[in-house]
Amino acid sequence: MKINMEQLVAYCKQQGFVYQGSEIYGGLANAWDFGPLGVELKNNIKKAWWKRFVQENPYNVGLDSAILMNKEVWVASGHVGGFSDPLIDCKSCNTRYRADKLIEDFTNGKETGDNWPNEKLVKFIYDNNIVCPNCGKLNYTDIRKFNLMFKTTQGVIDDPASAEKNTVYLRPETAQGIFVQFKNVQRTSRRKVPFGICQVGKSFRNEITPGNFIFRVREFEQMELEFFCKPGTELDWFNYWRKYCLDFLKDLGINEADLQLRDHAKEELAFYSNGTTDIEYRFPWGFGELWGIASRTDYDLTQHQNHSGEKLDYVDPDDNSRYIPYVVEPSVGVERLFLTVLFSSYDKETLENGEEREVLHLNPFLAPYKIAVFPLMKKFHSEKAMEVYKLLSKEYMTIYDDAANIGKRYRRMDAIGTPYCVTIDENTLNEDIVTVRNRDTMAQENIKISELVEYFRDKLSF
Ligand code: GAP
Repeated sequence: MKINMEQLVAYCKQQGFVYQGSEIYGGLANAWDFGPLGVELKNNIKKAWWKRFVQENPYNVGLDSAILMNKEVWVASGHVGGFSDPLIDCKSCNTRYRADKLIEDFTNGKETGDNWPNEKLVKFIYDNNIVCPNCGKLNYTDIRKFNLMFKTTQGVIDDPASAEKNTVYLRPETAQGIFVQFKNVQRTSRRKVPFGICQVGKSFRNEITPGNFIFRVREFEQMELEFFCKPGTELDWFNYWRKYCLDFLKDLGINEADLQLRDHAKEELAFYSNGTTDIEYRFPWGFGELWGIASRTDYDLTQHQNHSGEKLDYVDPDDNSRYIPYVVEPSVGVERLFLTVLFSSYDKETLENGEEREVLHLNPFLAPYKIAVFPLMKKFHSEKAMEVYKLLSKEYMTIYDDAANIGKRYRRMDAIGTPYCVTIDENTLNEDIVTVRNRDTMAQENIKISELVEYFRDKLSF
């Protein structure tokens, strides 16, 4: 049985995956905190991505750049001038909308309104009689551009004249930190083009219409790759990364039938892009963007070269040709993948004995706890049981639990996705043998304590 959004929010709170931020003060709209299980799942998602995109990929290296950057970076990238959403208000009830989202919702995603000029957005809204979803009137303000970057000041500011000079922005994407370090990374890692730079980190956007739980938030994490290649080869690499990202999602256990690739139509493409695809997931409210993959030509490096005055071109050692590398950028939000993983792995099953169990069929690598160690009954809580716990927790995230009956403990571990439960019983005390229960099949196996760590090695890797 699938879970709806309301149930998922309640489930996340109850199990300790996600809580409302600042809850005891009445919360802060659309701010969320990740609890003991949430932080594990989030870290495991980032680890899986890093392993696949940095550790196992022969082309890529990593970077961790600062959140605060020289504000000229955002002038060059176009974010100061153009990173804005089209804001429209209903004059009758004062509800605020993103004009493009009104169109997207009205047409069920057939038209996204992305990159449309204001006049086209307004014409479409009035021609199609897209009334205010709140009050049903067709009575809107003009569209205003609303810049999404959070602005603050750096240092001690006591006069307004220097406040402007000291303006800094919270980065709205991690990508620009990569572009401005392109030369340093290329030189110090002695990489030849094609190569890529990966980064995971916080981004901030003052979204007009955040919502759908953690799908669209103002503070989130991105996992971004900027892949630098020779002009003319970018569309081959674009296809390579589309497949690579899709394979990663399938390997995480996301059901392929719930994924679709949506290629952007010509009029939807940013002016510098010669190909953009969104990998979309079937969320309960319909397909939504999970992962954006864009072929960005030489736009970013050229902008930074022109604004900084620093050369950012590359001399190919094979043929001495000189060029500004083209870029292919796959960019995915950690929270969106977190949500996708939960929706796709949650199930409510009826067992043969008619009992119902809540279960998260998580890829074992992503599971917050990999193993639960249970004494079968209180009397088996023993030095031996603690030895098993210590042995396993050195290698894997393990939880020890001797409260409640064994059936209840299994149900609790199923519900949070723990792939294996290790039970300590008479055999353990007498013969050093434990019972290992599999979350998905519920089958049980006897394993010697001395073989346990190796037994789990492959089963818990990615
Ligand atoms: N550097 C390219 C870039 O940032 P984007 O399409 O704006 O492109 C990439 O964002 C990904 O980041 C999205 O596909 C989504 O997964 C995630 N993302 C963007 N805005 C988000 C938000 N407000 N809340 C959560 N995730 C977001």
